Amino acid sequence: MKFFIDTANLDQIRDAQDLGVLDGVTTNPSLMAKEGISGQENVLNHYKAICDIVDGDVSAEVISTDYEGMIKEGMALAELNPKIVVKIPMIKDGVKALKYFSDQGVKTNCTLVFSAGQALLAAKAGATYVSPFIGRLDDISTDGLDLIEKIRVIYDNYEYETEILAASVRHPMHIIECAEIGADVMTGPLSAITALLKHPLTDIGLEKFLADHAKSNS
Ligand code: G3P
Repeated sequence: MKFFIDTANLDQIRDAQDLGVLDGVTTNPSLMAKEGISGQENVLNHYKAICDIVDGDVSAEVISTDYEGMIKEGMALAELNPKIVVKIPMIKDGVKALKYFSDQGVKTNCTLVFSAGQALLAAKAGATYVSPFIGRLDDISTDGLDLIEKIRVIYDNYEYETEILAASVRHPMHIIECAEIGADVMTGPLSAITALLKHPLTDIGLEKFLADHAKSNS
């Protein structure tokens, strides 16, 4: 399972990269705004800075919602660095844009996916990644993990190569359950990734090992 970090914060991206388990980064306009990144040049420079830190794919989202605008914006993003994955919303013109980029060999991430039907369309249009937002489904009392399960079955039935990127991950159990179901990738905050480290028996055990070592070496 690939681990992506869902942030535009360079310090957090460096931390995750230093941990040695990071496979990529996802961003969105809200995450860029949270870091105070605005203006086309600053936005493009920020994506370049992220690409300089990580080894894997970096999703950069288009703002346009019309086909021509998405193509123009997406091509400019893709030209920044081979690591860039053009993130396209699941709307009618977005599906057309996914097909265009797929034909051009440009990697894509279809975002704002909330149903199995949307995921099927994204795969048929040749998306590299599909991003079902599991946390936001949980927020409205709908089982986000159930959607991942349905998409897994559909993609396996027809051997679609589109990778299931579980997005809107909020906590470590989301990551573990997505891994059990067979999501190809998860993207979440640094806190969810580092929470996987924690177990009280690990802390108690280590404390005891170190105390015993200190006793026999004093
Ligand atoms: O990047 C898309 C997705 O991961 C957003 O997550 O927490 O804003 O629902 P969230």
